[in-house]
Amino acid sequence: MGPAALRSDAGSAGVVTDAPERPEARPAEPDAAADSALIGRLSQIQRAIAEAAAGVQRTSVEVRLCAVSKGHSADAIRAAYAAGQRDFGESYAGELQDKAAALAGLVELRWHFVGHLQRNKMKVVLPHCHLIHGLDSAGGIAAADRAAAGLDRRLDVLIQVNVAADEAKSGCSPAELASLVEAVAAAPHLRLRGLMTIPALAADPAPAFAALAALLPQARAALRSAGGQAAADADACDELSMGMSDDFGAAIAAGATIVRVGTAIFGPRRASA
Ligand SMILES: Cc1ncc(COP(=O)(O)O)c(C=O)c1O
Repeated sequence: MGPAALRSDAGSAGVVTDAPERPEARPAEPDAAADSALIGRLSQIQRAIAEAAAGVQRTSVEVRLCAVSKGHSADAIRAAYAAGQRDFGESYAGELQDKAAALAGLVELRWHFVGHLQRNKMKVVLPHCHLIHGLDSAGGIAAADRAAAGLDRRLDVLIQVNVAADEAKSGCSPAELASLVEAVAAAPHLRLRGLMTIPALAADPAPAFAALAALLPQARAALRSAGGQAAADADACDELSMGMSDDFGAAIAAGATIVRVGTAIFGPRRASA
């Protein structure tokens, strides 16, 4: 599978879709060879992250690896967890719900929701999530706030920005960002932790990564002007979620603090996911 195919898949995960949410269950046979190949790929990615960070005078501690496990089995996640991986990304509410139930015993596992979160799925997704990557509308922010209020928790979120104005991608425009930051600032059960982007298909992703990084100080400034708790939390708005299997090096060079890598760790996803 080439880079274009991979990005195209990621892009389709970024739009509202009625795609099936529960890929068919795989036979739950332990596969030691597959696990060891997976662990080999995982450590290769960890090394590549460390090298990319060192190349721009950063350290790997500054870059969190979110292993995008959508379309892969709970067993694969278990194997990665056993090798020390803690952050996992999912895009479909039902799939996340099933895996969270199956893997409830992995107490240090942190779920990231990296897809487009439909409002009617908030109640399913939010109880499991450490971080929501893809909020991009005032309505979505209000719905997430209501759902988080129902859980009596304050939820960490990122705003997704469509920096390249790619029609195939979700995300607000850079011009809309300030008003969405204000909407999160006014939502008592949400805390804005930073920004996320998916670069346009077949484009050099570096300008999109640089553009997202340049927006982060603006988001922080908007939080400070909002005052109250949002202003107090402005310094914690420091995450840049960008970079996938084919381009995480460029993202790290531009300041990524979270890279979302799926295929390079788990292999190709099942078609239905
Ligand atoms: C939002 C998002 N980030 C990251 C990924 C992982 O992409 P890749 O498999 O190219 O690493 C996906 C996969 O679809 C995605 O939807």
